[in-house]
Amino acid sequence: MDIQERERWGTRIGLILAAAGNAVGLGNFLRFPVQAAQNGGGAFMIPYFIAFLLLGIPLMWIEWTIGRHGGKYGHSSAPGMFQVLWGHPVAKYLGALGLFISLTVMMYYTYVESWTLAYSVFSALGYYFDISDFAGMRRFLESYQGLASEGHFQGIGTAYLFLLLTFSVNLYVLYRGISRGIEALAKIAMPMLFLFAIVLVVRVFTLGTPDPTQPEKSVWSGFAFLWNPDLSALSDAKVWLAAAGQIFFTLSVGMGTLHAYASYLRENDDIALSGLATATTNEFVEVILGASIAIPIAVAFFGVQETQEIAQGGAFNLGFVSMPIIFTKIPLGQLLGTLWFALLFFAGITSSVAMGQPVVAFLQDEFKLSRAQAVGLLGIFAFIGINCVVFFLGHGFLDELDFWAGTFGLAAFALIETILLCWVFGIDRAWEELNQGADIRIPAFFKFVMKYITPLYLIVIFTAWTIQDAIPTLGLEGVKPEDVPYRWGARLLMLFTFTAVAVMVALAWRRRRRNGLETFERR
Ligand code: PHE
Repeated sequence: MDIQERERWGTRIGLILAAAGNAVGLGNFLRFPVQAAQNGGGAFMIPYFIAFLLLGIPLMWIEWTIGRHGGKYGHSSAPGMFQVLWGHPVAKYLGALGLFISLTVMMYYTYVESWTLAYSVFSALGYYFDISDFAGMRRFLESYQGLASEGHFQGIGTAYLFLLLTFSVNLYVLYRGISRGIEALAKIAMPMLFLFAIVLVVRVFTLGTPDPTQPEKSVWSGFAFLWNPDLSALSDAKVWLAAAGQIFFTLSVGMGTLHAYASYLRENDDIALSGLATATTNEFVEVILGASIAIPIAVAFFGVQETQEIAQGGAFNLGFVSMPIIFTKIPLGQLLGTLWFALLFFAGITSSVAMGQPVVAFLQDEFKLSRAQAVGLLGIFAFIGINCVVFFLGHGFLDELDFWAGTFGLAAFALIETILLCWVFGIDRAWEELNQGADIRIPAFFKFVMKYITPLYLIVIFTAWTIQDAIPTLGLEGVKPEDVPYRWGARLLMLFTFTAVAVMVALAWRRRRRNGLETFERR
């Protein structure tokens, strides 16, 4: 065994905050409201909670188990972890998929995160407060993104500056390491995030019915839209897929980031309660806090119908267009706007560093690079991709990456790891590993769920996705002809990224063999 002094978490609470910071992200405050509104509000919530119970929680435990187990053998990224579970030489390349996904998602996530930083500054400075209509606010966003020739901003310069700033902060945190970087960040960002979110939620509740002559437009109709179950939509496969996709994304499962965090634990440190705490904290933030901001406030000002249309119109409309309009209409709008976007930034950065960590850890563990070298290499590579996202944003580049890596990829990786842990490694050993050092007793029911229900559910979701979305997406159905080359460009970038990662994995294993280290391959 190749034992060296591994990095460790400083404190239990620090680890929990970091893991919660990993899970709580833009997904909770931006993606969730959009998904809920696009999928009929109350119709979405039932499949959502079912997916949480049968996919989310079991996958959370599966990932913490794989992670802590891999850490014992000096691996903090999926290639090595999978290899330890399964002796076949192919295992490490399945793990490479995890590195590919986190790297790819990081490329667009960091850019969106940088918008939130910019918008929080714009709110504080009152930049957009002279705009009162939807079209105007959209133009403001598009001019910021360099997509509109006229508007507040000349060119992409401002956005690029905020991107560089955001990206540098991310790399700096990674460079500081597990306890002095990621954990230290979470200890500041998470409490702030809670505080800001609670202030905003209280403000939303006290808004009531902003215009008494239009009683149907109130925050209460917003809550009713979300919380009145609509059983009629349960037969629509689209809603089930969207709900499962949201559960993967919001809980950060399906790419190897939670594994990486768990790998810095000791053999007898609890993972059962920590995993559960991470999942429940994330859900609290999503369905209590996240669900009580963007949707109710939009319904109070625009009504249910229009809110749904806003959400249909684009993934960023609720957060970056309708919210700013509302801030211009309410007292203390500048302050609340600053809080909203700062909240998003804190949520975002504690997640984006998590996406960087597996790659950094891979380079450190398997190539014995120093942290500075590893972060530098990650920075160079990610930066190439980020630039494509920035300059080809208007051509659907981000959407292409988000579908293949951030949606399809997560489900594929989740299915692979479930089979590897619960079937190849074996459910009995997996269960024992999960319960080692556990601070809670997990109901035995979950052993059954992890072995049968979760993989079955994943197979169904994955197959349905392939038929319903992947094939039309692959054929670029409904894509504007002028965007087709860019979509292919995005695919090329992904192919290039995966190939690069796979080659690195191959080299790493060659290096291990040459140095006489255990490769865990049984040939
Ligand atoms: N869970 C994060 C969010 O909700 C996104 C994320 C996905 C982070 C996967 C890490 C890994 O925004």
